[in-house]
Amino acid sequence: MALHDTLARALHILDPEDAHRATVIGLKLGLGPVDRTPADPILATGLAGIPLASPIGLAAGFDKNAEVPAAMLRAGFGFVECGTVTPLPQAGNPRPRLFRLTEDRAVINRMGFNNAGLGPFANRLARRRAAGPVGANIGANKESADRISDYVQGLSRLWGLADWFTVNISSPNTPGLRALQTRAALEELLGRLAEARRTLTGDCPVFLKVAPDLEDGEVETIVETVAAFGLQGIIVANTTVSRPDGLRSPLKAQAGGLSGPPLMALSTRVLARFHQANDRGLVLIGAGGIASGADALAKIRAGASAVQLYSAMVFEGPGLVVRIKRDLAARLRAEGFASVAEAVGAG
Ligand SMILES: Cc1cc2nc3c(=O)[nH]c(=O)nc-3n(C[C@H](O)[C@H](O)[C@H](O)COP(=O)(O)O)c2cc1C
Repeated sequence: MALHDTLARALHILDPEDAHRATVIGLKLGLGPVDRTPADPILATGLAGIPLASPIGLAAGFDKNAEVPAAMLRAGFGFVECGTVTPLPQAGNPRPRLFRLTEDRAVINRMGFNNAGLGPFANRLARRRAAGPVGANIGANKESADRISDYVQGLSRLWGLADWFTVNISSPNTPGLRALQTRAALEELLGRLAEARRTLTGDCPVFLKVAPDLEDGEVETIVETVAAFGLQGIIVANTTVSRPDGLRSPLKAQAGGLSGPPLMALSTRVLARFHQANDRGLVLIGAGGIASGADALAKIRAGASAVQLYSAMVFEGPGLVVRIKRDLAARLRAEGFASVAEAVGAG
């Protein structure tokens, strides 16, 4: 096992949130791993016009304040999503709010959008040198009187600084946020974002990030609304408030969103429903439970043009991304695909 992965596991003697902070500090100091393997051309692909060296991305929540996108690109991720960022800094929920379900290789979090706000986030993105695709995941402050205006502020403030935007309405840890997924609320949100976009020059893909806990019919409504308001794609999915059968850790009763391998089956089923409902040419990004090249390929076959992961890295260390890329490339070849794009939605 690589040194960085051993170190990442050694950090498990710390409280999970302290371990995460130590990791980010290490990455800021330039102590992170560097993927020196040559890019495999079979993994090269595109996402709503953004060229990607590989379809394996870092999901939002790891780098909430855009402190280390370049370090994570160097570690081997094909694209890195920073945030969720809210207009004003906010402390989030009281600790403890992040739990490792070690027996299940899963995580439960109820962080509640702890972040330093748009100012520092924008300054960091403005200073970054182009090292690869970096996106901004935007959200609303818990106490905001007008949550939709928070999303508009995020988009306007960061326009021109990010390679894509993700409108996150699916965190289970900001009360009422997921209600923005219902038709009327979504229409108002996306309508006001479209209005703001008309005043901004240049093009930039905007994605909507949804929860895996959706009722029948909601998938079709979301596809229709997202397409009608000119967004480019949907990230499926955020963490789940459900607790799939078979969880063994006593921490499974903690409140919050569950992520990691126990989320793989549910989030891939929901992704396949989105793929089936997607008659509007939207791009789908798969997230939830990816821990191997086989998982990444399962999401791609279910309709994802690219994928994102976070939780598996908590247990496997940052070297995981290199292993997943190697494994995915071998599987694509073994299954007769000449490219990632050819496998998208292959079933
Ligand atoms: C500690 C933690 C914090 C997260 N914070 C965010 C966030 O701020 N915004 C967001 O859109 N998703 C957030 N997520 C969700 C992830 O981006 C991802 O959608 C989810 O964890 C499923 O992927 P995974 O099973 O590979 O972790 C967070 C996940 C974890 C584990």
